[in-house]
Amino acid sequence: PEQYLEIILYNVIGFLTGLLAERELRQKLSYQSAARRLEESYAELRRQADLILDIEDQLRRADRLSALGELSAGMAHEIRNPLGSIRGTAEILQDGIDPADPRYEFTRILIKEVDRLNRVVQDFLDFARPPTPLRASVDPVAVLREVLQLTRQLALKNGVEVSLDADAVSATVSGEEEQLKQAFLNLVLNALQAMPTGGTLTIAAGSEGGEVQLRFRDSGPGIPLDLQEKIFNPFFTTRREGTGLGLAITQRIVSAHGGRLEVASAMGAGSTFILALPAEKHL
Ligand SMILES: Nc1ncnc2c1ncn2[C@@H]1O[C@H](COP(=O)(O)OP(=O)(O)O)[C@@H](O)[C@H]1O
Ligand SMILES: [Mg+2]
Repeated sequence: PEQYLEIILYNVIGFLTGLLAERELRQKLSYQSAARRLEESYAELRRQADLILDIEDQLRRADRLSALGELSAGMAHEIRNPLGSIRGTAEILQDGIDPADPRYEFTRILIKEVDRLNRVVQDFLDFARPPTPLRASVDPVAVLREVLQLTRQLALKNGVEVSLDADAVSATVSGEEEQLKQAFLNLVLNALQAMPTGGTLTIAAGSEGGEVQLRFRDSGPGIPLDLQEKIFNPFFTTRREGTGLGLAITQRIVSAHGGRLEVASAMGAGSTFILALPAEKHL
């Protein structure tokens, strides 16, 4: 009978050990799944936090933009009229001075500086313009050609070779031609200004996936990674003559057209600005 007892005990202990081991295993599994759930909720939290930060950033930017817009619209008009008179007067003075006279140079500087001020004011005005574009059918390639015509002189002066490859575009976009022209112009000007001693600007236009994509690739100095976010902020500039409004305006126009604007760049490897607009219809 003692033998039986031993066997029974053996079995009971075995059973208990098994039970304990199973409980341990179950517990371990439940810890593991809890840890996994925690990790998942942590990741989800991070995603939400990033999203909130993103939205907050956008709101702050939009807010700053509209306040600035109103302010600059009022100011710009007040500044432009007297500037016109100053320029006109300087021209009259210049007409009466012999180009060999040293004072002629002063009038030249006067006119040049007035023109510069006018450009700054024009930037502010563009900035202040309501972002709702008119809705008309626009051929983006035709607008692009006009912009290249406008900037030919500067390209020549800076020794920049500009090429346009637009065979792959077969769609129009819906929007306001003048605004789109402004957006393209800003990107072309930036590229040309980034290459004062020559280079290449390659513009490739194509339509795919319901989008018209314009890529402006330059062989300029490139943009450091830590500046690539900042360049779209109003008033951010690294140029002595810059207003820092070009890309902010461009981005606003592009968003108002339901499109997007991105930059890809590395120091020493040039910059590519990618402007995508929803295609309206195929030609
Ligand atoms: N193609 C480019 N190559 C290098 N830097 C660029 C380019 N485009 C823009 N940037 C940088 O972005 C800044 C902001 O551009 P933008 O908003 O047009 O203002 P601005 O031209 O008045 O400086 C420029 O000062 C320059 O540092
Ligand atoms: Mg600019």
